[in-house]
Amino acid sequence: MRPWRWDRASLLSKIIDAHANPVETFLRDAPATLEQGIKDSGQTAEGEEQMAENSPTGDYVQMDSVDWVPFPEGLCEGPIRWKLLHVSPESGAWTAIFDCPSGTSFARHIHMGPGEYFLTKGRMHVRGGSTEGGATAIAPSYGYEECNAQHDHTEFDQDSEFYMTFLGPLNFIDDDGNTIALVGCGQVLDAWNAST
Ligand SMILES: [Fe+2]
Repeated sequence: MRPWRWDRASLLSKIIDAHANPVETFLRDAPATLEQGIKDSGQTAEGEEQMAENSPTGDYVQMDSVDWVPFPEGLCEGPIRWKLLHVSPESGAWTAIFDCPSGTSFARHIHMGPGEYFLTKGRMHVRGGSTEGGATAIAPSYGYEECNAQHDHTEFDQDSEFYMTFLGPLNFIDDDGNTIALVGCGQVLDAWNAST
């Protein structure tokens, strides 16, 4: 398994697209990206049975039989791992579970659509945590993040784990608000296939 990175050319096209119209671009490209992602994954007729049982393109995942893989570099600090559970290009939704050791954090991002999470273990500080006007989730907990929620720093000071469904892409931004990567269901499937 290897960490996955955006290549420069695809990153540039994502940035240009994101500035043009992020949501429209994402919805336009997602089905084709998903289809190509499945082809690129090299699934065979025999493999499709396995895919249906245990891959992002199927409807059921036995999670213990899926290995954790490193979350893409540049989108987090520290050894966060994830399992991509499902992608729904027809709605732009994607679902994953994240393993976040103490001391890790996610890079600055904006939720282009709403998301719901279930913190199954540990503690997650969102938008600076409760001491800085944000929220501190303590497991077990449920949370809703609204459309356009900006998370400058999502950090974990305990070993934590959470499950989340995202409706639409995450727009990862730099300190000046410029898009670094627009990460929707097509992109997460690409990343997952590249690292498994
Ligand atoms: Fe977030």
